[in-house]
Amino acid sequence: MGETLVVRGGRQLYGVAETPAAKNSVLPLLAASLLCDGVVRLHRVPRLSDVENSLAILRSVGCTARWTGRDVVIRPGGGLNGLLPDGPVGNMRASVLFAAPLLARTGRVETGMPGGCKLGPRPIDIHLDGLVHMGAAVKWGQQHLVLEAPRGLHGADYTLRYPSVGATESLLLAAATARGTSVLRGAACEPEIVDLAAFLTGCGADISGAGSPVIRVSGVGRLAGTEFSPIPDRIVASTLACAVASAGGEAVIRRCDPFAFAPLLAALKQAGCGVDLSAQNEVTVRRRGALCGIGRVFTGVYPGFATDAAPLLAAALLCAGGESSIEDTVFEHRFSCAAGFAAMGAAVQAQGRTLTIRPCGGLHGTTVTSPDLRGGAALAIAALAAAEPTRIENAATIARGYEDLPALLRRLGARAGWE
Ligand code: EPZ
Repeated sequence: MGETLVVRGGRQLYGVAETPAAKNSVLPLLAASLLCDGVVRLHRVPRLSDVENSLAILRSVGCTARWTGRDVVIRPGGGLNGLLPDGPVGNMRASVLFAAPLLARTGRVETGMPGGCKLGPRPIDIHLDGLVHMGAAVKWGQQHLVLEAPRGLHGADYTLRYPSVGATESLLLAAATARGTSVLRGAACEPEIVDLAAFLTGCGADISGAGSPVIRVSGVGRLAGTEFSPIPDRIVASTLACAVASAGGEAVIRRCDPFAFAPLLAALKQAGCGVDLSAQNEVTVRRRGALCGIGRVFTGVYPGFATDAAPLLAAALLCAGGESSIEDTVFEHRFSCAAGFAAMGAAVQAQGRTLTIRPCGGLHGTTVTSPDLRGGAALAIAALAAAEPTRIENAATIARGYEDLPALLRRLGARAGWE
């Protein structure tokens, strides 16, 4: 897979596409496997660089982790070590999720700070504060953070100051085998939290309330292994829907949960797309005439409009006949892709957390740079509306969350490939 993605738009999309398993469910599930005494098998895992990165972390701390066809099989070793490897840790945000389960198993973890898309400040203070309430001691070394819990973790009644997805996952992982009961208040309600709780329950954990702001966990002595199929990726499904909205045409998106990205579908419908929940676990999206502006859109925590879908919707609205604005209440710099939109001829203005989109005279091909995972995907969506080819450089950022985005778009008739 190259570093440059080339998309030549000007052609409507038609066909059927299947949604892969959700990256943002698979990654916490891989971290959760550290808690299991038995073998863990995850089905139909997408081959993403973040997944490979996670397997490298698991192997580095003493697990065996391998692909078996489309599945991933993890066998946690007997003597896990608590040193998280700097390279993989610095490559992605989700590496922070490996700290809590490893601390629960080994009593001591050393780790660098997680990497990930540059979307603004991304501290891990809620993760750490919650772990301290569960008995961890946190020390900052020169390069590393050291977490210690020599007497293990204990339950806590803890309120998150913000419903952080990752912090909720960290604290769920810490609570699953902690001594006693935990109550996580103000927890994130995303579908990926529900999926993680379902996985842990399948391994023998005692969890209730996942998907609601109050999650109760009674710690258990041990967790067995299990087989598990992660939920479909609601952001990849959103990407496909926005691709049709941008290019025009009609597509059936299969193996998805339309209710998990309902605000995005509602926004596309308001803009003039046809959206039919044609059958269970699928949605048909079509666009014939020009789209209209949809006024002010605000992202929010689930079940609000997903922050990750904000650049994708923006790309779909660049050629709309009226004005729209999208404010991301979750991250401060969500719209780094605005420069790429403008280079293609879009009339956009990014001010703080808000991107304003006004009618333009159409988009043209050019060379742009992918700023981050969803920004890069958004540039590809925008390029579908330009008749000439667009080259998207730094496209390795896109491979973090899409197994092969050009192949996915080609399945719907797009002209897209790696250079
Ligand atoms: C997860 O990131 C996802 N990543 C993100 O998807 C997603 O955008 C985000 O949740 C929100 O839905 C994974 O699941 C791997 P947060 P996460 O903790 O856990 C602040 C993608 O494209 N915060 O809910 O990092 C933080 O600064 C990625 O797939 C603290 O202040 O999101 C941010 O402003 C991008 N302290 C806000 O909360 C903390 O300890 C949301 O962060 C933690 C977070």
